Amino acid sequence: MTHLSPAEPPLLEVLSASKRYGSRSHPVRALSGVSLQLWRGERLGVVGESGSGKSTLARLLVALEMPEAGDIRFKGKSIVGRSRRELEELHRSVQMVFQDPFGTLDPRLRVAESVAEPLRALKIGGDLGRRVEELLEAVGMPAGSGRRYPHQLSGGQRQRVAIARALAPSPEVLIADEAVSALDVAVRAQVLNLIASLVERFGLSMLFISHDMAVIRHVCTRVLVLFRGEVVEEGPTEQVFRQPSHPYTAALISSVPTLGGRIQEPKAPDWEGGPGATGADQIP
Ligand SMILES: Nc1ncnc2c1ncn2[C@@H]1O[C@H](COP(=O)(O)OP(=O)(O)O)[C@@H](O)[C@H]1O
Ligand SMILES: [Mg+2]
Repeated sequence: MTHLSPAEPPLLEVLSASKRYGSRSHPVRALSGVSLQLWRGERLGVVGESGSGKSTLARLLVALEMPEAGDIRFKGKSIVGRSRRELEELHRSVQMVFQDPFGTLDPRLRVAESVAEPLRALKIGGDLGRRVEELLEAVGMPAGSGRRYPHQLSGGQRQRVAIARALAPSPEVLIADEAVSALDVAVRAQVLNLIASLVERFGLSMLFISHDMAVIRHVCTRVLVLFRGEVVEEGPTEQVFRQPSHPYTAALISSVPTLGGRIQEPKAPDWEGGPGATGADQIP
């Protein structure tokens, strides 16, 4: 079984989507006939080398761009050609974390303001100050860090803040696009473990994009391999690792394992009595 509720449509679905950039005379094919499903509760990895179309896929999924052909669906409904208003639920429910938190965090805003911003934008009420504090605590930021500015933080801390900001609107899906790729190896393992534990704690579904098979293996239940804008392989992570069916996948697996032995298994979370004991927490 790849999903928990067969009666429910996938949270996100891409159906034979194609996307081109460039001019008519010099087109760049970013995606050709790509299909995928992200089911509730799943952690799906998308792996491929630089330029294989991963970020394009992410942008299609959050309606930042539209495909030339094919369809993109959120909870079974097409998001292609919808108005901003019609996409409100998508924009709240599907949040992204990017490689570079400087692109996400406004340098002029204090950390607390950056995390509160999506709450204000989405007109989510309540005690914002308290909620922001809880979010910053959930991502492991030290007390009082809400008053700081992005440049006063380390790279790992900035990425933690970007994660807090993504969690702020209580999303159902997290899309991480090379979210740990720019971090030092030691910090990378910490932030990766943080993402894995938050996804579990809050019952999120995740699309985890990376060029790095070792990272994918650590967090994803299923993996899809993109090569030059096409899906060449898809399957349960361990199965793909043990028996890659496409030579490109085999090459990705044998290329530098950047996490080496350094990554730790996610620690048993201390906020629950055991797997599924109390169900998922509410995002603060
Ligand atoms: N805005 C853009 N304009 C022109 N070409 C683009 C644009 N975005 C991506 N591309 C091209 O599309 C292809 C896929 O890019 P991308 O989705 O960024 O791949 P990845 O995230 O896997 O590195 C690449 O050839 C890239 O150069
Ligand atoms: Mg990319």
